[in-house]
Amino acid sequence: MPHVLAKISLQLLAKSNVDFLNIASRAQSNMWSNVPMGPPDVILGVAEAFRKDKSPKKVNLGVGAYRDDNNKPYVLPSVRQAEEIIFKKCLNHEYAPIVGDATYCDLIAKLGLGDNSLAIKEKRNVTIQSISGTGALRVGFEFIAKHYGHAKEIWMPAPTWGNHPQICNTLGIVNKRYRYYDPRTLSFNLKGCCEDICSMPPGSIILLHACAHNPTGVDPKPEEWQTLSEIIKEKRILPFFDMAYQGFATGSVDNDAFAVRLFEKHGHQIILAQSFAKNMGLYGERVGGLTIVCADTDTAAKVMSQMKILIRTLYSNPSINGSRIVTEILSNPDLKAQWLADVKEMADRIILMRKKLREGIEKRGNKHKWNHITDQIGMFCYTGLKPEQVERLTKEFHIYLTKDGRISVAGICSSNVDYVAECIHKVTADAKPRA
Ligand code: LMR
Repeated sequence: MPHVLAKISLQLLAKSNVDFLNIASRAQSNMWSNVPMGPPDVILGVAEAFRKDKSPKKVNLGVGAYRDDNNKPYVLPSVRQAEEIIFKKCLNHEYAPIVGDATYCDLIAKLGLGDNSLAIKEKRNVTIQSISGTGALRVGFEFIAKHYGHAKEIWMPAPTWGNHPQICNTLGIVNKRYRYYDPRTLSFNLKGCCEDICSMPPGSIILLHACAHNPTGVDPKPEEWQTLSEIIKEKRILPFFDMAYQGFATGSVDNDAFAVRLFEKHGHQIILAQSFAKNMGLYGERVGGLTIVCADTDTAAKVMSQMKILIRTLYSNPSINGSRIVTEILSNPDLKAQWLADVKEMADRIILMRKKLREGIEKRGNKHKWNHITDQIGMFCYTGLKPEQVERLTKEFHIYLTKDGRISVAGICSSNVDYVAECIHKVTADAKPRA
């Protein structure tokens, strides 16, 4: 045998076939040759395309990230002050508990459920620190997949944030849509929504955007929330709230938690996902929370024990910097007052930009209706622009937005609002009025 090998080696060397050998061994060692190219993320992919555009005119209205009136990322004054206080404390970098710091969890549960929450008073809430809103949804959905004993179907509004179904699909959870937004009236479809809730299997889960619905900017009115709560209770459906924009709808964190608190008051065993990316501007800190309201303390203890097992295998325990900032703000009355003012300031700037954008389009004599720009609330405006109009905005005018016509109003500022209005006017001027 050795002499056969020696002969082959000599032959190969004689042919100087070193390149061939390299290619052959690489082909054999391509352990990932079965991996297909995936599509870019529908929202974050827009940001990538924006970064590559060299035009000085470019405007990013894709991702929902707040910008100040100079179109710059904004660090909230309350967050800066909290960071300075934390820095002076010279803290260590030990691990956080699996479910996060207990003080942090108590504070965020109160922020979501309110000071008068019965669940908190009776210690029936299980609250954990999550990796921002997405992490809360992921842990929550995975908990449902593993431990929910009823109809494992998650019903989501049509339309909803693109990551909601993606997370469910990754976990193999059946996810369906209920009627939410009426494209004819550009408003909430209460009748369709109620009809769909009535046909959901009892015990299924309904995903609700607590405020500032993403992508439509259309929320149910208080009396409509009341109706929804009653039907959902009657049908024994589990409400799962995603509250990623607390404060961004009305400028008040208490007003924006109306639906969550109403449902809890009505005795629903709600699940609540929270994020501090938007309302504290802590995007990259990845800080949020997940609360499961349980029927009693015994159940809460069991849920908490399983939550620990789930998190330990996912990411062991959460990071500590973001939650320290949130804790500092929510536990210090002066800082909290400053933060509430910061949130109001951001919400007000968005409201002003909505007004200016609408005026800018209307003053050009555009024949379409644009009242929905100011009627909708929160960070996003669901413009009603068609995919070909969106494409023209991007290709011709360097304005980036998602294909569904959603714009992040937070990306509009005094220096670009007129340009955006002019371009929207241009791409819609010849279109037929909406039916
Ligand atoms: C958005 O909808 O733009 C934000 O929630 C950011 C994200 O992660 O998609």
